[in-house]
Amino acid sequence: MSRSSTSVPLDPSVDILISASRIHRRINVLAEQINQDFAGKEVVLVALLNGTVIFLADLIRRISLPLRLDFMGVSSYGSGTESGTLIFTKELRLDVRHRHVLVVDDILDTGKTLNAVLERLRRLQPASLKTCVLLDKPERRSGSLQADYVGFSIPNQFVVGYGLDYDERYRNLPYIGVLKNPPPAE
Ligand code: IMP
Ligand code: MG
Repeated sequence: MSRSSTSVPLDPSVDILISASRIHRRINVLAEQINQDFAGKEVVLVALLNGTVIFLADLIRRISLPLRLDFMGVSSYGSGTESGTLIFTKELRLDVRHRHVLVVDDILDTGKTLNAVLERLRRLQPASLKTCVLLDKPERRSGSLQADYVGFSIPNQFVVGYGLDYDERYRNLPYIGVLKNPPPAE
């Protein structure tokens, strides 16, 4: 995995919160836990678009289980922190009935997104349903939802990079950072 180096351009409007090397070390640990917990089983990994793509690419290359990959597109109106009305922009293609499903998302914030996805998946009667998120902002949670695998628990700050966006920007930063001028609360 590539490490952050001095050649990486630092975005002047973003303060680094979690470096690329810390992210990669943590993903190694998460993948090892998943490998152990699902040993002997085939997993259907359901990744939520779009923010998960970078995390997903690094995570699945550390998973040594038989694995099938599918995507669900979930998006909320607005570009800031509040998830308003959720729309499903892409539905699952794989049949997950009686399968071991691991949902992967970038960040668990209020929990609205993951709750809606889990409700949808439960109706499809998977054998088991677990969740893995890179980031968790527990302060913002509106219900009692907790992810089974969490990369980092972070304070209530708006973060970008490593797949996470603000208005579709900053996804390509190799680290997770905090916007110096955060978006106004919606
Ligand atoms: P939730 O439905 O409130 O849990 O929000 C989850 C979704 O909101 C994530 O999948 C992200 O797309 C977005 N989100 C929440 N917090 C942040 C953040 O700090 N930076 C970027 N996107 C965020
Ligand atoms: Mg987003």
